[in-house]
Amino acid sequence: MKAGIEAISFYVPKYYLDLKTLAAERGIDHAKYYNGLGQEKMAIVPPDEDVVTMGASAALRAMEKVNPASIDTVLFATESGIDQSKSAAVYVHGLLDLPSHCKCVELKQACCSGTAGLLMALAMVRQQPAKKVLLVASDIARYGFGTAGEPTQGGGAVAMVLSTEPHLMAIDPQNGSYSDDVMDFWRPNYMEEALVDGKYSIKVYVKALTECWNQYVRETGHDFDYFDWFCYHLPFTRMGEKAHMHLAKYADVHGYTKAQLMEQIAASLRYNRQTGNLYTASLYVGLTSLLESPAELAGSRLGLFSYGSGCVGMFFGGQVMENYQAHLKTSDHQHMLQDRIELDYPTYRKMYGYRLPQDGQQHDTPVYHTGPFRLAGINEHKRIYTAVQAEIEADTDAKNQCIRSEQHRPENTKHMVSVA
Ligand code: CAA
Repeated sequence: MKAGIEAISFYVPKYYLDLKTLAAERGIDHAKYYNGLGQEKMAIVPPDEDVVTMGASAALRAMEKVNPASIDTVLFATESGIDQSKSAAVYVHGLLDLPSHCKCVELKQACCSGTAGLLMALAMVRQQPAKKVLLVASDIARYGFGTAGEPTQGGGAVAMVLSTEPHLMAIDPQNGSYSDDVMDFWRPNYMEEALVDGKYSIKVYVKALTECWNQYVRETGHDFDYFDWFCYHLPFTRMGEKAHMHLAKYADVHGYTKAQLMEQIAASLRYNRQTGNLYTASLYVGLTSLLESPAELAGSRLGLFSYGSGCVGMFFGGQVMENYQAHLKTSDHQHMLQDRIELDYPTYRKMYGYRLPQDGQQHDTPVYHTGPFRLAGINEHKRIYTAVQAEIEADTDAKNQCIRSEQHRPENTKHMVSVA
């Protein structure tokens, strides 16, 4: 029985910082960011968005053609969680008005918990083929102000519906995995920014790739030539290029030029160059970028590598389905990326410095442009989320779905133009 990705959609906030702007402020040649890291823009999350609003926005679009009653489980992968106890999955379940029989759970292991969720979801749907899983991966990549990690920030979410009707891609049951207790990247509960040993993290990433590949080859007997295209976890897109060249060398492949190897991953890098790191969502924004490229992929075999610092790696494969293009949201995604608002440096700095008040009093968040959902404020330490009317009107199905959830929520707000 085939199981895999029935629908996929991603969401990035309306704001971005061009890395030329950051480079000018930091006194750095912007070619270091554009070419050395392979990043042009980084998505900036405004004060009235968080992993829940971004995850719900991605999920709303991914669910457009899916019967909500078929969703048995909502899994939410993140390393930017908003609560130590209540899962972000429950908030998304509420905002999308999903049926009460759903199970809702949050998952964590740095950037690879999205993949852990995907593998768990596929095991679930293989056991109960009529049921579907909504998997959301949503994150805010945030490093210390002025540190080397700063140009590799970003934020956004991806949502996938996993089922035994994989309109986009069937995922193979086998995978190669690897875990090791290392300190390459981490974020203690009392910190807002990740801590990272940058150069070491790259070494560990590459080691995890090699170990996962060894395990994958032992499990499957497949070799490098089995795959037509590859997607990697992308903390920055040059990392994907380095990883792929390393794997090709390690696997001792013959008959490929460097240009041919780069061609195997180039289409997966396009979107991430414009968004920055999305942690748990990065690999799957890369996959969406590949699927939505002009290349004809039906029948192609894809190899995917997921890396979560700390560390856990997973390598797995899948095959693109016939007629997959009909199930993509290519135009929506491309418009979303094109229609963003560029920030100047002072506004980036202001957004970076914003903190949700922690005093338990009632506070409204400043109003910025958002997607279909926003974080309207906080009261008694409870986050208040609202559906945004103007965005909902853009789509009839989404409208019907969200009007139902609006009726349950008195705090609805209108979409407003922000003053940054
Ligand atoms: N023109 C073109 N290229 C230039 C340049 C210029 N003027 N100046 C420098 N470069 C190149 C460098 O040669 C280098 O390329 P190579 O690695 O191919 O040699 C590249 O730009 C980066 O330069 P540095 O090595 O000097 O970069 P840095 O010290 O400023 O730090 C970093 C880079 C370590 C990635 C840092 O941004 C960082 O710590 N980022 C966060 C951690 C991270 O993303 N780690 C990745 C693996 S861990 C992971 O994947 C999990 C996760 O999501 C975090």
